Amino acid sequence: MSKYSKYVMQLLYQHQSNYISGQFIAEHLSISRTAVKKVIDQLKSEGCDIESINHKGHCLIELPDKWYSGIVESLIDAQAMFNHVEVLEQIDSTQLLAKQKLVGNSETFMILSDEQTNGKGRFNRPWDSPRGNGLWMSIVLRPKVSFEMITKFNLFMALGIKDTMQRFCNDKVTIKWPNDIYIDGRKACGFLTEMVANSDGIEAVICGIGINMNHLPDDFQGELQQKATSMRIHANQKIHRYQLLEVLIHQIEKRYKQFLNQPFSTIRKEYIEASNIWNRTLKFTDNGNQFQGEAIDIDDEGYLIVIDNQKEYHKLMSADIEL
Ligand code: BTN
Repeated sequence: MSKYSKYVMQLLYQHQSNYISGQFIAEHLSISRTAVKKVIDQLKSEGCDIESINHKGHCLIELPDKWYSGIVESLIDAQAMFNHVEVLEQIDSTQLLAKQKLVGNSETFMILSDEQTNGKGRFNRPWDSPRGNGLWMSIVLRPKVSFEMITKFNLFMALGIKDTMQRFCNDKVTIKWPNDIYIDGRKACGFLTEMVANSDGIEAVICGIGINMNHLPDDFQGELQQKATSMRIHANQKIHRYQLLEVLIHQIEKRYKQFLNQPFSTIRKEYIEASNIWNRTLKFTDNGNQFQGEAIDIDDEGYLIVIDNQKEYHKLMSADIEL
């Protein structure tokens, strides 16, 4: 990809639905009109819907179905949450890359990839991340808080992700405590929160989010066919990736500010109402210990209160739950 395609795309996006001339782009980027034409042709060959009319110029008719850093950076700039953004076509895992990139600096950033070849879920499980249908992203934030706060961060993020997805879906979107987002009994998103900490507190929080955005039922393989779903299936239309990303970043920013300034108790009721784990027998795995029971509450600190089949109480901060 030409090093100018990012900037050409940015200009087209910023002037979307208007025509901008090759001359205008050339002057803006200090390149020749021939170089501009080359980049535009290349973007078109990648499937970008750009209309070019003689004496009028070029117009981005519809946003592409692929991540372009020029567009992502414009969206993120508007919200000023990250120092920088990295957009990739393919990577083993955005989470692994984020953990490498946070070392030796104090920057906040976001990594997005069209495809992951070795996506990681919780407990190191594989996370299916094919090209085209998903939003695979990791963000690195630097809250100045003690390391116990990481679980609280996770609870706030869950609401932000849930609210984002609900904006686009007709069916109810719910949280399966602590890390999954469900629609109609099936998982549509998983996220995980990791951290780097020292004795002074958290150095970095790395939150990896995987959203099944535009899968159709036949796109899921093996056991996922029964267990997974996508936003598109519950929106009855294709999800616009850049609209989704814009709302998601906005929601993450809102919930992050709330996390920094308010106790969990302020969102407790909202979280409980958004959860799908009540009034049913669940199978828990907590640190290798398995038991069946019923979740009965989430307390003001964010602990899940469970009563098991032997009538013993458990206070959980994290666990694996089978519905
Ligand atoms: C889970 O449900 O187990 C959590 C899944 C998290 C997947 C996301 S996709 C982006 C980021 N990169 C990864 O390798 N994993 C997370």
